[in-house]
Amino acid sequence: MTKKLSDKKLAVLGAGKLGGILLRAYLRQGLFLAKNVSASVKHAEKAAALAKELGIAASADNRKAVRGADIVLLGVKPQVVGEVLKEIAAELSENTLVISVAASVPTSYIEQRAGAKVPVVRAMPNTPATVGCGMTGICRGAHAGREHLETAQAMFDAVGRTVVVDEKNMDAVTGLSASGPAFAYIILESLAEAGVKVGLPRDVSTLLAAQTMKGAASVVLETGEHPAQLKDAVTTPAGCTIDGIMELEEGKLRVTLIKAVVKATQRASELLFEK
Ligand SMILES: NC(=O)c1ccc[n+]([C@@H]2O[C@H](COP(=O)([O-])OP(=O)(O)OC[C@H]3O[C@@H](n4cnc5c(N)ncnc54)[C@H](OP(=O)(O)O)[C@@H]3O)[C@@H](O)[C@H]2O)c1
Repeated sequence: MTKKLSDKKLAVLGAGKLGGILLRAYLRQGLFLAKNVSASVKHAEKAAALAKELGIAASADNRKAVRGADIVLLGVKPQVVGEVLKEIAAELSENTLVISVAASVPTSYIEQRAGAKVPVVRAMPNTPATVGCGMTGICRGAHAGREHLETAQAMFDAVGRTVVVDEKNMDAVTGLSASGPAFAYIILESLAEAGVKVGLPRDVSTLLAAQTMKGAASVVLETGEHPAQLKDAVTTPAGCTIDGIMELEEGKLRVTLIKAVVKATQRASELLFEK
C-alpha cells in the first residue's frame, strides 16, 4: 500500500494546522513524494512559504492544485467545503478519491457537489498526529469501495491509529477523540498544578503528570483491560488513592467529562450550517 501511495498524486486543499500536520508527516515518511504533492491555502503568501519549506507546488488556486490529482485531501473549515468543491468539481472524476477531514460535513454533502460517482471518505483525525500518535475515525460514502477506505486508512495509520466507523458516529468521534486532546491537556495541566501545590518543581510535576497519563493510556491499549479494573489495581484498601478518588467523585469529574463529550458531539453537527 505504501509503495502504491508514493506513486499517487496528492492535493491537500487547506493546508492549515491539520492539513499541514498530515502533509509534513507524509513527506517526512516518504508516503508521498514532494514532486507528486500539491497544496492550497487561502493566502498566497502562506502558499509561497509552504512551497519553499516543503518543496511542493503550493498556491491559492484550488483548481490548479487538484489538476491530475489521484487523491484530494480537503483540510478546509466545514463552512468552506461547499465553495471549494464548486471550484474543483470539474477536475474530479470517479478515479479521484476525495478525503475530507472537515468536522460536521456528511459524505452526501460532498458527493452532491463533487459530481457523479466521485468516491468520498470522511475522516476525523486529531492533533497528536503531529507526533505520530493520532487517532482517526473514518467512514466511506456511497461511491467509495474497500480500496478507497484502505487508502485512507494507510494515510491516517501513518500518523497514528485508525478506526472505521459508521457515518452516524462521526460527530461522536469528533466530540471524543478530535476534541479530546483539549480535555486531556486540561486534566494534565491540573495534575501538574497539583504537583506544584504539593511542593514539586513545575517541570518535574509536568513530566510526572504527562508520563503518568501516557502510561495509563498505554496500559489500556496494550492489555485491553477495562479501565475500572486497572484503577482497582492501583487502589490499596485504606491507602492514599481511594482518598483521591473520593475527591474526584465529589467534584463530579466523571459526569463533567461525559457532559463535555456530549456537548462537543452536539456542536459537531452544527458547524456546517454556520457562516
Ligand atoms: N484542528 C483540529 O484539531 C482538527 C481535528 C480534526 C478535524 N479538523 C478539521 O480540519 C479542518 C481544518 O482545521 P484546522 O484546525 O487545520 O484549521 P486551519 O488551521 O484554519 O486551516 C484551514 C486552512 O484552510 C485554508 N483555506 C481557507 N479558505 C480556503 C479556500 N477557499 N481554499 C483553500 N484553502 C482555504 C486556510 O488558508 P490560510 O492559512 O491562508 O488562511 C488554512 O490554511 C476543519 O474542517 C476541521 O473541522 C481539525
